Order: sequence, then structure tokens, then C-alpha cells
Amino acid sequence: MTRHFTDVDDLSADELETVLDAAADLKGQVKRDEPHPLLGRQTLGMVFEKPSSRTRLSFETGMTQLGGHAIFLGPDDIGLGEREPLTDTARTLSGYVDCAMVRLFDHEDLKELAACADIPIVNGLTDDAHPCQTLADLLTLRETVGFDSRVAWVGDGNNVAQSFVLGCALAGIDLTVATPDEYGIDERVLDRADGIGTAPDVTNDPAAAVTGADAVYTDVWVSMGEEHSKEKLAAFEAGDFQVNADLLDDSPIVLHCLPAHRDEEITENVLESDRAVVWQQAENRLHAQKGLLAFLLDAL
Ligand code: CP
Ligand code: NVA
Repeated sequence: MTRHFTDVDDLSADELETVLDAAADLKGQVKRDEPHPLLGRQTLGMVFEKPSSRTRLSFETGMTQLGGHAIFLGPDDIGLGEREPLTDTARTLSGYVDCAMVRLFDHEDLKELAACADIPIVNGLTDDAHPCQTLADLLTLRETVGFDSRVAWVGDGNNVAQSFVLGCALAGIDLTVATPDEYGIDERVLDRADGIGTAPDVTNDPAAAVTGADAVYTDVWVSMGEEHSKEKLAAFEAGDFQVNADLLDDSPIVLHCLPAHRDEEITENVLESDRAVVWQQAENRLHAQKGLLAFLLDAL
């Protein structure tokens, strides 16, 4: 059966552990300069409706390291949903490539592609979810504070946060989410986390969320496609959601999916401090996604 990765909870808790273990092994192999051509002669299609640095770089480099190949298709190449229906794109991709990673605006489009594809479809970010980011986040937490720790999310409750909520639920991480009331985690995502076993505590008070936290995670206040939303910025400013030295008076580590808007959701001095593990987190996209691709393509 074709396995897709539309969000983190497409994996069971055991499968998530398998992917993270594979990621850690593959990371070791890269560091020791050992070849690991698990996906020799296989091809990944990469379809982007939005810009990207980390996602494109990590998937393309990952496929090279696994002995395969990746093809980049930007917004002007494929004209998703414009040149032909999504269903036709899904069937076309299925005839050429072994797996497709897609970065789209509308999560429903991703689900439609997955429903018609005979190959694994991997979510490289939609407006609702960013599960590949969560794999890297969890690998980073496992390497630093461990899963038996308290984590606080401070900021917008959209894509990165929502997948992180599901990932923490699967990993059994004690999570508190602080968002403005109007930019919280979708109730349906909270229900899914609850169904897995551990829904986060939810608050609109960043200071309360970070008290006693071992790790604090934030993301931009204005996501790709929302650049003109002035009300959104105002809501985060009014609620004191900036991750700054005053907020972090204990000494948690700090995560950010990047790109960061310095001195908006996070101050320059926190981002550049020793407590920030953001470059380790960004590098872990590579290792985590290689583990995922090897899992989805039955190469572990
Ligand atoms: N974190 C992340 O997905 O980065 P890019 O948008 O650069 O791919
Ligand atoms: N929330 C951000 C994440 C970027 C990786 C966005 O959607 O733009």
C-alpha cells in the first residue's frame, strides 16, 4: 500500500521512532563519510508553490546522498491546478518518479494529490501543516533536552505549530502552546492530538507557557501568503509574544524553524545566543527527511 506523509500522524508512534532512529543512523553515516545509497536510481519530484531554502536544499541533497536524484519544479514550471487538474498532475508524477514532495498553499490540494497518486506524497509545507519540519524538531529535541522534558510553543498556531502539536503527542512530550486567542491551534488538530493521547495545554499567556520550560519554540508571525496581514502582527505585538531575553529568564534552549524575522517574533540576541539550536535544527531537516524517504520507499 502506498504510504503518504500529509501530516505527522500519518505515522504511528512506533513508526515515528523508526524514522527518527533511521535519521540518527544516517546522520552518523554522513558525519563518518560513509556511503549509504539506500535509494539508488530512485527519483524524487519536488513541487513548490511557495519559496523555500531549507526544504529544497535538504530534500535535493538528501536524495543525492541516498544515491538517487531529485527534480525541482517551481511555480512557473508545473502551474499546479492551472495547466491541468491536480488529478492529472498526480497521475503524471506517478508515472515518472518514485516519490513526490510538494509545498502547497491549500492542504486540501495536497490531500487531493495524495488521493490520486500511486507514489508516496510528502508534505513539504501547506498552510495547515509542516510535518517534515516536525521530524527535524523532534530529532533536535531528542539530541538535546530529550523527550522527557517540558516544551513551550510561543507564537502563531498555524502550520509549523500544528504539526509540532501532533509530533509531541506521538512522542509523549509535555507541551504548552501559547498563541493569541484568534491565532490558535485548530480544534480538529487538538482533537487529533487528544486521540493520540496527549493534547497540549493551551494558553494566551507566553510568560506562563515558558515558566519551567526546557525548550521554547517559535515561528514567524506572518507566514508566506499572509504578508499583508497587519492585524496579525498587531495581535502578536499586543500580547507580548516576542521570544526575548526578558521572556526567557530561566535557561531553556530555543528552537525556530527559520526563516526568522529578527526582532519581530524573536530578538537578534536570542537567535544568535548559545541557547538557540536553530542551525542544528535546520541541518536535521536533511537527516530526518532521509529517514522518512527510506521508510516510505521501503528501504530501511
Ligand atoms: N523551515 C523551512 O521549511 O524553511 P524553508 O521555507 O526555507 O524551506
Ligand atoms: N509559518 C511559516 C513557516 C515557514 C517554514 C510559513 O508558512 O511561512
